Amino acid sequence: MLDTTALNQQRNFFDGHSSLWLFGYGSLIWKADFDYLERRSAYIHGWERRFWQGSHDHRGTPEAPGRVATLIRAQGAVCHGMAYRITPDVLAPLDTREKNGYLREKVPLTFVDGNVGDNGDAAEQSEGLIYLASDDNPAFLGEAPLADIAQQIAYAHGPSGANAEYLLNLATALRELGAEDAHIFALEHQLKLL
Ligand code: BEZ
Repeated sequence: MLDTTALNQQRNFFDGHSSLWLFGYGSLIWKADFDYLERRSAYIHGWERRFWQGSHDHRGTPEAPGRVATLIRAQGAVCHGMAYRITPDVLAPLDTREKNGYLREKVPLTFVDGNVGDNGDAAEQSEGLIYLASDDNPAFLGEAPLADIAQQIAYAHGPSGANAEYLLNLATALRELGAEDAHIFALEHQLKLL
C-alpha cells in the first residue's frame, strides 16, 4: 500500500516555529486525539470538501475501500473546519495515520472568531497546514454519483470503524459549526435513505 510518511517528513513548511496551525476539514473536526494549545473555528478559501479519497486502512479495507474526505480546488468556495495550534511533534503520528495518500500542504486560513466589522478590521488570518489527498495519489477514487458514494460508505468498515459513522459525525460537526456544505449534507441525506 501507498506510504506518504517519508515524503511528509520532508515537507517542513513551518521549520523553526515552536507552534503552527493545523486545519482539520475531515475527521479532525470531530476527533482530535492529539494535544493542542488552542482550537479555533476557521475556514479556507478556494477549496471544497469531497468524499473522493479511498480509505483502505481506516474506514475500509483493501478489498472493500471506504471513502473519506479530501479537498478539491474551487474558485470562490469556502471550506469550514477547525484549526488547532499544535507543537511540531504532533505531526509525526499524523503523518503515519494519514499515510494512504495525504500530503502536508501550506494554506492561508481565516478564523471565524476574529475581530471583523465594527472597527473595519479584516478577519484574522494565519498560514496553516492541511493534509491533502490530490487526484494523482493511487488511493484517489474521484467523482461518482452521490447515491453510489453513499452506498459504498454504507457498507464499508475498517480498523477505525464504520465509514457511515465518519460521514454522520462530520455532518453533525459541520452543523454545530453553522457551516454550509452541500456535498456533505446531500451525502448524509442519501445515506439515511438506505
Ligand atoms: C482532516 O480532518 O483534515 C484530515 C484528517 C485526516 C486526513 C486528512 C485530513
